[in-house]
Amino acid sequence: MKTQPMKTIFRNLSGQHALPTALALVSLLIAGCNKPASDQGDSSGGVIKIGEFASLTGKDATFGVSSHEGTVMAIEEINAAGGVLGRKLELLTEDNQCKAGETATVVNKLIARDNVVAMLGEVASSRSLEAAPICQANKIPMISPSSTNPKVTETGDYIFRVCFIDPFQGTVMANFATKTLKAKRVAVLTDVKSDYSKGLAKFFKERFVANGGEIVTELDYNGGDKDFKGQLTAIKAANPDGIFVPGYYTECALISIQARQLGITVPLFGGDGWESEKLFEIGGPAVEGCYLSTHYSPAVGSELSKKFVENYKKRWNGKTPDALAACGYDSALVLADAIRRAGSTEGQKIRDAIAATKSFPAVTGAITINEKRDATKSAVILKIKDGKYEYLETVGP
Ligand code: PHE
Repeated sequence: MKTQPMKTIFRNLSGQHALPTALALVSLLIAGCNKPASDQGDSSGGVIKIGEFASLTGKDATFGVSSHEGTVMAIEEINAAGGVLGRKLELLTEDNQCKAGETATVVNKLIARDNVVAMLGEVASSRSLEAAPICQANKIPMISPSSTNPKVTETGDYIFRVCFIDPFQGTVMANFATKTLKAKRVAVLTDVKSDYSKGLAKFFKERFVANGGEIVTELDYNGGDKDFKGQLTAIKAANPDGIFVPGYYTECALISIQARQLGITVPLFGGDGWESEKLFEIGGPAVEGCYLSTHYSPAVGSELSKKFVENYKKRWNGKTPDALAACGYDSALVLADAIRRAGSTEGQKIRDAIAATKSFPAVTGAITINEKRDATKSAVILKIKDGKYEYLETVGP
């Protein structure tokens, strides 16, 4: 397929560039103000500028890279089919390097300097929560592909997501623990630095206890930690039937390794944050027999999903798409569809059109945006087997 003109700007992708200094940012903002009207990304013809903030480098980089690859592919396909409102889409991507505070900097730049008409991002809820108030204040519609913490869209009426939320995901995994794992006593290990982890832990516990289960111990860590032996020793002493770890892949893999080293043999399980090819690289045999819930499996799905897997492999050197790629792809499609229906690139009109999204045919399932600006969708449960994600079941909303 011929690639249509689409400029994707990476900054700090290699991590070589230092953080922009305050001075550099100020000059960028001034430069933005001096732009001719034709470059303001509005209704005046030319390209339609879409901002994307993503974790392309740093601790959770596979999240940002996968999501970005899906997003880029969607934009390329839309442009190849003629664009939107007779104009091409231009995706301007900024790397937040997984650093707290950096998202606010890059999102402000995309809005003030680049005049994007809408924003796509992020995967991690804590980083979406950093961007959301900025987009809301500037009336720039934002669609998160895969942030699941409820607070993200509660920020305001310009903030949307194309995925389910953690009250649902927590319920799915609590019911899985009760019914499939037949667990009665579960330990929970939460990343207190992550809004996602804290929320998912809470929603899991509520349902598991309502199912008649017991939380035998609850312990914490900080994202970025490497040593979990203290917590795991206490967990072992509590003798649970399973350990719920609502974390991200690096820590989940290290926790699995150290649990096995301490002789803990019960399954570990968690949510979508477990999804990364790095989980196997880091965790190796220790993650075998663990479980997770997520948004999508390339193993099942519609004709649309099959086509997506095929095209993604072609576009990205044979790589199989994960849930993050699929959600990233869907977020761009939903946005483009909304701009088309809005017939305009005005923030409020795009906002209204996103809010009116109904049964949009997407790779991760039909997307209807509900009154809370979330999508109501199914989850899939995967088992880690032979260094791969094995599809187990789909759980409807
Ligand atoms: N749902 C996670 C969060 O909100 C992010 C995530 C999505 C991670 C999909 C992996 C896969 O933080």
